[in-house]
Amino acid sequence: MTCQSESPAGVRENAYAARGPADSISVLQQSQLKARVQSFWQNVPCDSWFTNEKCGTPAFYRSLDEHRYKVHPRLESAAGIEKTKGKRVLEIGCGCGSEAERFARAGAHYPAVDLTNAAVSITQRRFQLAGLEGRFTQGDAENLPFADGSFDLVYSHGVLHHTPDTARTIREVHRVLAPGGRAVIMLYLPKLV
Ligand SMILES: C[S@@+](CC[C@H](N)C(=O)[O-])C[C@H]1O[C@@H](n2cnc3c(N)ncnc32)[C@H](O)[C@@H]1O
Repeated sequence: MTCQSESPAGVRENAYAARGPADSISVLQQSQLKARVQSFWQNVPCDSWFTNEKCGTPAFYRSLDEHRYKVHPRLESAAGIEKTKGKRVLEIGCGCGSEAERFARAGAHYPAVDLTNAAVSITQRRFQLAGLEGRFTQGDAENLPFADGSFDLVYSHGVLHHTPDTARTIREVHRVLAPGGRAVIMLYLPKLV
């Protein structure tokens, strides 16, 4: 399991470097850029720099969540987590799995995809410790490995602007949503990227 506790401030721009409109760069450039994005998040799983606790321990998840919901007190209600009992919820870019755990506890049928093996294994470990069920796939938001109309809710927090072809991810979200389904997506403001 890969974790890092130091702030990635000095290297954070690597996750966005050379980013431009997808149609202005070649397919090769896009795949090189995506490999850099993947390598960045593999080495620095999201938010892991906010804790000194050992990765994969109960204290690690507890301290991440304490920090997260202090900084984002309205996140759970904005995502509508409490209304997802029995719903099919896909999370794109699960990171260290804070909302993942809450969706599962609320009774959602929950799969997640993330570009990195680090996020998948860290979230899997969280579910194992909590005795929860979920499915986790290392996969790409630009090519979601799900059939059309599979989900009632697609949730993605701070993810889709990282990938070279963000417009394509939005089409994918639309494709996998069932009629009447809902997407809850948080993107960074351009001036922050
Ligand atoms: C800023 S973190 C956000 C993680 C989590 N949603 C959170 O709020 O803590 C970005 C996450 O997006 C994932 N990611 C980046 N590009 C992706 C892609 N094309 N497909 C799936 N996941 C991607 C990264 O691996 C990383 O875990």
